[in-house]
Amino acid sequence: MGRIIAVANQKGGVGKTSTSVNLAAALAAAEKKILVVDFDPQGNATTGFGIPKDGKKPSIYQVLAGESTLHGAFQIPFPPFLSVVPSHPDLAGAEIELVNLDNRESRLRDILEKYKADFDFILVDCPPSLGLLTLNALIAADSVLIPLQCEFYAMEGLTQLMRTIDIARKRLNRTLSIEGIVLTMHDKRNNLSEQVASEVREFFGSQVYQTVIPRNVRVSEAPSFGKPVLWYDVRSSGSVAYMQLASEILSKQSLSVATPT
Ligand SMILES: Nc1ncnc2c1ncn2[C@@H]1O[C@H](COP(=O)(O)OP(=O)(O)O)[C@@H](O)[C@H]1O
Ligand SMILES: [Mg+2]
Repeated sequence: MGRIIAVANQKGGVGKTSTSVNLAAALAAAEKKILVVDFDPQGNATTGFGIPKDGKKPSIYQVLAGESTLHGAFQIPFPPFLSVVPSHPDLAGAEIELVNLDNRESRLRDILEKYKADFDFILVDCPPSLGLLTLNALIAADSVLIPLQCEFYAMEGLTQLMRTIDIARKRLNRTLSIEGIVLTMHDKRNNLSEQVASEVREFFGSQVYQTVIPRNVRVSEAPSFGKPVLWYDVRSSGSVAYMQLASEILSKQSLSVATPT
């Protein structure tokens, strides 16, 4: 049975999309079956996979609106391992349109449920807000992966995110867990970066991955070629780090299977 992971942090520019795209590519390279759902109206993950946002093919917006099945919106950049459900700017309106529906908070969960068995992981790239879209992702998810940028205000706002995670737990998703916290855009030559990393580790302990994603220009260049960094420059420090993160996630998962609680 697949695991649905919401990649969330209401701060913009912390590495949610880079993590969704590159972790997906790394897991797919390990021959895991991955689905990425681009749940941000900005559609950066869609672009990051080289998928046009011209609205010619169905997006997650049509799926939410009941105009397409999820399968009907699949784009498959790396068959058979990696499928993507693209986003579209119209998704911004869904936040308002959903408000009137009965299952407004569980719409994504109802959609993804039928597909869980087809994938090892479903990654949902969340928008930079704690609105109805992110709440849908948190209610659909088994766990939350939180990218934290190694900068001064990294932990600011985490209280709000944790509160929203609690709301999701109380309402409809009691078993929602924290998949892990990943430190992104780390610069080892920068003292502040190091300091933030150690503070976050002190506070969150083993919830923080050993793997740290370094600041690496290849990671920021890759989307302009419509590729995850792994397909753009497999030897770059960014590629190596995302492959490491993938294996850390896979080994944690086999650990949790081996030691039932
Ligand atoms: N490890 C990294 N090294 C260099 N630039 C990065 C790295 N991770 C992300 N970026 C850049 O930082 C910006 C924000 O990242 P993004 O993943 O889009 O964040 P979010 O989805 O949280 O808004 C983008 O321009 C991206 O290319
Ligand atoms: Mg993003």
